[in-house]
Amino acid sequence: MKDNALHFALFGNPVGHSLSPLMHGAAFAGMGLRAQYSAFCVQDLALAAQGIRGMGLRGVSVTIPFKTAVMDLLDEIEETARMIGAVNTIRNDGGRLMGFNTDAAGLMKDLKEVTNLRGKRVVVLGAGGAARSAVFGLIREGALVHIVNRTAEKGERLAGEFGCTSSALSDKSQIGGDILINTTSVGMTPVVDASPLEPYFLKRFHWVVDIVYNPLKTKLLKDAEAAGCHIRNGIGMFVHQGAEQIRIWTGLTPPLELMQKVVMERLS
Ligand code: ATR
Repeated sequence: MKDNALHFALFGNPVGHSLSPLMHGAAFAGMGLRAQYSAFCVQDLALAAQGIRGMGLRGVSVTIPFKTAVMDLLDEIEETARMIGAVNTIRNDGGRLMGFNTDAAGLMKDLKEVTNLRGKRVVVLGAGGAARSAVFGLIREGALVHIVNRTAEKGERLAGEFGCTSSALSDKSQIGGDILINTTSVGMTPVVDASPLEPYFLKRFHWVVDIVYNPLKTKLLKDAEAAGCHIRNGIGMFVHQGAEQIRIWTGLTPPLELMQKVVMERLS
């Protein structure tokens, strides 16, 4: 790459199966940008963060397990990322590192393509990092959120923080509404025959959304389809969060359809 090229990285561990290099590479090529995006399986996050400055990377995507830990290593955290408590995007402004979160916006953009969220009763399955982004985004859009988690206390803590309700996954009486969103990794490749919720309860929802996108149709989504629900996988969220990263890094509009196409082709 020439000296004036823009350099980007993914920091995670593991990163071998990530589709971000494919998606961002296609986007940059489509935009005619002289840019390189590489995935790094990070061993020492503090040293890696220093490396952003040292090597003059323009931007970094941050993934599991570093989205929270990286926050202490940055110069400034944008307000949304601070409220969510996780950073998935870093921009390097001349050595000053700023953290952003595009996961919540990515999910909301995708959901709003198919349904209105204001006043909708949404059950969020899970209370981990991915759930935090979902709950934050949903509440900001005016949805009525109820968290359902295997470990009840963890769900209660998250609900307390964001001012919504919660219950244990073992208590099925609270499971019902307009939209169900799975934020757990249950059903993800390679354990594709697993689902976080028994099929019987899915008919209580109009929409069932899985943030998992590998496989494209998880067992949860297959069951939901069989129960007559509308379904949505995590592809749209993934593409939108990546597109938002490119906007943050470059100020330019990324080719959303091209990004979606290369990801779909790889997964199909
Ligand atoms: P992430 O950052 O990807 O959200 P996480 O913080 O480890 O990952 O959170 C994983 C979430 O998936 C948790 O809510 C977890 O439930 P617990 O709090 O009870 O651990 C949920 N989860 C993981 N495996 C699960 C399973 N087999 N059934 C139901 N929920 C599960």
